[in-house]
Amino acid sequence: MDKNKVFFFDTTLRDGEQVPGCQLNTVEKIQLAKALESLGVDAIEAGFPISSPGDFNSVIEISKAVTWPTICALSRAVEKDIDTAADALQYAKHKRIHTGIGTSDSHIRYKFKSNREDILERAVRAVKYAKRRVEDVEFYAEDAGRTDNEYLARVVEAVIKAGATVVNIPDTTGYCLPEEYGAKIRYLMEHVDGIDKAIISTHCHNDLGMATANTMAGVLNGARQVEVTINGVGERAGNTALEEIAMILKAHKGLDVHSDINTQKIYGISRMVSSLMNMPVQPNKAIVGKNAFAHSSGIHQDGVLKNAETYEIIDPVDVGVDTNSIVLTARSGHAALKFRLETLGVKLSEEALNNVYQEFLKLADKKKEIHDDDILMLAGADRAESHHIKVDWLQASSGIGMKPVASIGVDISGEKFTAAATGNGPVDAAINAIRQIIKRPVTINEFTIQGVTKGSDDMCKVHMQVGSGEQVCYGFGANTDIVTASIEAYVDCLNKIKN
Ligand code: KIV
Ligand code: ZN
Repeated sequence: MDKNKVFFFDTTLRDGEQVPGCQLNTVEKIQLAKALESLGVDAIEAGFPISSPGDFNSVIEISKAVTWPTICALSRAVEKDIDTAADALQYAKHKRIHTGIGTSDSHIRYKFKSNREDILERAVRAVKYAKRRVEDVEFYAEDAGRTDNEYLARVVEAVIKAGATVVNIPDTTGYCLPEEYGAKIRYLMEHVDGIDKAIISTHCHNDLGMATANTMAGVLNGARQVEVTINGVGERAGNTALEEIAMILKAHKGLDVHSDINTQKIYGISRMVSSLMNMPVQPNKAIVGKNAFAHSSGIHQDGVLKNAETYEIIDPVDVGVDTNSIVLTARSGHAALKFRLETLGVKLSEEALNNVYQEFLKLADKKKEIHDDDILMLAGADRAESHHIKVDWLQASSGIGMKPVASIGVDISGEKFTAAATGNGPVDAAINAIRQIIKRPVTINEFTIQGVTKGSDDMCKVHMQVGSGEQVCYGFGANTDIVTASIEAYVDCLNKIKN
């Protein structure tokens, strides 16, 4: 094995996606997973399969869609979790179960009401159990950042002996100082028998703004896997940003460690994550912020014009910053759309590209300028052709001094229905009209509407979660018309409910 290679484990789709309001649907997750594959990550943590049927299904679909990176599924140190993770990974070409348990005294005492010996036994048992299902097992010692080093070393030694191929040392609460975290990794490298049989991994949270520094301290002391997310997204203050570690390794050649990250894809995938998760990137964010390479002071501009090296430690081209960024319009051809999508990390089959191009033309008819976020959304949208319930037409009116009303024509497996209803707004009226046709009780549990870019002619994205009996289904719609987007999302949900 190349001892100087740092493996990149991307957890945007698991730890990153835990951010409230940033949940992705399966189609969006597949789009992102494929982009991560072309970015060159070594492993993709695709989800936590026991947590929901949606997560289980996403791991299945990502496993089918992606070839080279290892697909990883999270579990607690519980047999049922491990079995579910293994089942979700059945189609992955390279698969890994990520199982673990809290090892800090506060986790042991308050979360598990247990003791160190019992936790150590449970850790070993979980790894051995996971090994029966897959060869590649990663163990995480949750809250390792606050775990006593001597006990942590015993746990790490025991799980490696049980067959763990990777051992993850998370600073779950983002508490550690870089020196402290680096010393922890060094302690393990020096005190664990058999440490060379596994890869030690960093997993740092950014609560005190030290995730990148801690991750680098881990690498400098022997860790050879880094767990990261695009744009540093993640719960609370987020996780270590992939782009920061990748560019530190590239800029500091003297460290003598390297990665397989194709850094020129970084900017595109950063935009993609921001757009799919509706999470703007702060302008001064390192590497991918809009001001990251913008020199405004006169002294800097003068220096950069004379020689970029005077003030730039990274060539923006190395990150894929596209200085010739173009805005597409109705006159842009198929090739321009393909080029733009590929710059953003999206590679589509000819057939899929043709479909997206048709949608692009429809959108360009309604909106003068099509931005990156618009086309990323078109590329990720689920096509509704295979749905058995389709909307033929919809009319809604509302305004000041009038009662909102909507009428709708729906095709259910070839049979035509129409209905009209009122509501407290045009969306409510349109949904009430469909309810008259589809008589089963369906409750809307979640309903979010977000603009994609800007302007009153903007596209809007609607995410919806509905419940019907025991079933919970997610739906998505996107349109320049807010009522149409909402109905698309509702009908998308209806199509997913099983009889
Ligand atoms: O932060 C953490 O401890 C985690 C583990 C579940 C790996 O995300
Ligand atoms: Zn985490």
